[in-house]
Amino acid sequence: MYPAQVRIVEVGPRDGLQNESAHLPVETKITFIDMLSDAGLQTIEAGAFVSPKWVPQMADSDKVFAGIQRKAGVSYPALVPNEKGMAAALEAGVREVAVFAAASEDFSQKNINCSIDESLARFVPVMEMARAADVRVRGYVSCVLGCPYGGNVAPAAVTRVARALVDIGCYEVSLGDTIGTGTPVKTRAMLRAVKDAVPAAQIAVHFHDTYGQALANILVALEERVSVVDAAAGGLGGCPYAKGATGNVATEDVLYMLNGMGIATGVDLAKAAAAGRYIAAAIGKPVASRAGRALQAGLKG
Ligand code: HMG
Ligand code: MG
Repeated sequence: MYPAQVRIVEVGPRDGLQNESAHLPVETKITFIDMLSDAGLQTIEAGAFVSPKWVPQMADSDKVFAGIQRKAGVSYPALVPNEKGMAAALEAGVREVAVFAAASEDFSQKNINCSIDESLARFVPVMEMARAADVRVRGYVSCVLGCPYGGNVAPAAVTRVARALVDIGCYEVSLGDTIGTGTPVKTRAMLRAVKDAVPAAQIAVHFHDTYGQALANILVALEERVSVVDAAAGGLGGCPYAKGATGNVATEDVLYMLNGMGIATGVDLAKAAAAGRYIAAAIGKPVASRAGRALQAGLKG
């Protein structure tokens, strides 16, 4: 019923940190990323080559990429919104990028200052640059279960954008509940609609945990044969253009659940929790992960 193996895409260094007001030294980001690769994470989103006027927290992504220990077999994707970002990512030696679109017109305008179709058109030359450089491209669809500006989002809108991202060459599409309002039944309906157009093997899920629904929604996604789950160590962060939304589901919480289900991830929970504690302390916030806090308190897992 459930996949035997799940790949966790660690997004803490990007999604977790893009929304934090604390200015972190680049060395702290590098240590965090190296702790995550040491924990066994195979995909670690390490930064974003976006406009520093829009997201100043990611302005040092080139320095982050220059400083990390690139572990063999680990992919370190970066977000790119346009050709300028792609050129900067290539310059920094990035070997995998992620383009990001939305299922909601309002969010697309607020987050990347263009319509959904304009964003898809903007990605076409980015894909060409990626192909020429043999760089893999992941795609995101934001607001798959609700929009902070427009409210309800129809599954058909998600399906259309997810399919379009695959059509332009994304190897995988991550479906983002950007504001964390989704619940399990709604998640299943959305995933079934997307699966009519995109095979489950190319779908990832990306839940923010604002209303505490992320693990329940992930369980539904596993039942729907999705086997790639985005998560952030320490459960930090959020999107600057989705006010009030909290961080991603915590990597520690996802690991604790998957370990309990006998699903292999290749990730060491204790080490991931140590990375979560490290970055929370650097920011000056408590660890948001429930499993992380239980481990911190010495409770047996
Ligand atoms: P714009 O203002 O329309 O762009 O922004 P522009 O082309 O007019 O450029 C404006 C200025 O930005 C110019 O500089 C450009 O050179 C510069 P100026 O001439 O004024 O000095 N610029 C750049 N600089 C560095 N890197 C670039 C770049 N592009 C332009 N790549 C733009 C459009 C897309 C650039 C902007 O809206 C932007 O950067 N948005 C990014 C927003 C963002 O990063 N949001 C968070 C990530 S998405 C997310 O969190 C959701 C996700 O987690 C999934 C989920 O949860 O749902 C992925
Ligand atoms: Mg996100």
